[in-house]
Amino acid sequence: MPTASVIIPAAGQGRRFSGTEAKSGPRVPFGERLTKAFVLLAGKPVIEHTLERFCTVPAVAEVIVAVPEDGVAWVEALLAAAAARTRCRLKVVAGGTDRPESVARALEVSDPGTELVAIHDAVRPLIRREIIEEALRVAVERGAAVVGRPIDHTVKRVAAGRRVIETVPRGDLWLAQTPQVFRREVITSAYRKREEVVGAITDDAQLVEALGYEVAMVPGDAANVKITTPEDLHLCEAVLAAGWPFKE
Ligand code: CTP
Ligand code: MG
Repeated sequence: MPTASVIIPAAGQGRRFSGTEAKSGPRVPFGERLTKAFVLLAGKPVIEHTLERFCTVPAVAEVIVAVPEDGVAWVEALLAAAAARTRCRLKVVAGGTDRPESVARALEVSDPGTELVAIHDAVRPLIRREIIEEALRVAVERGAAVVGRPIDHTVKRVAAGRRVIETVPRGDLWLAQTPQVFRREVITSAYRKREEVVGAITDDAQLVEALGYEVAMVPGDAANVKITTPEDLHLCEAVLAAGWPFKE
């Protein structure tokens, strides 16, 4: 199995999470308030859960975490013990003003000797190891792999005044999650050309699709929650309390 560098963007401001009080997690020396990747989930920072999920995968050679600029030293200290328990290298870098810029900065310092680059949101701490491994395997075979879920809800298009105007056929619609895994040359060339992409960039695979590369979908699970609001953090707590990971 080829080796992988894992990029974990954690440099966001967590605006939609902002109801959280600083007392619910460790104090951070950056920003006015705690950002969501560093709040406590079942007694340890969200990012530490995420780091541990990846560091137990044998193919993972290094993990690069992008954090707010004035938090680099603090995060290095926070994660040193967790990283030392595994054989994977940890690098902490200053992120940028948007997620693609944070990923680009991490990509720059990643080891050019690894064949694969996996990108995973810091705020998805409940990713299962076997899904990570499947995404790595598919990326080797197909060049690019995105973990996601088929949409199992009815989807409506809603206009002004909350008027429902359409029921959208959902047969071929999937929700993209992370990790998203790429052969190194695929993601580096996609990021080099990212200025050419028109409109908002909401995930990494979008840049790869824009270049015309094939991207394969890898079925994930519903527990791979992205913590956006405090409600999502409660959901993660409940899933852990129910005995997650259920299938490992
Ligand atoms: N992220 C990042 N650098 C940025 C913006 C986001 O590394 N400039 C990271 C976040 O830390 C998070 C992931 O990208 O791990 C997904 O982004 P999102 O859920 O939108 O987090 P935030 O941008 O922090 O939250 P919000 O949009 O509510 O402010
Ligand atoms: Mg954001």
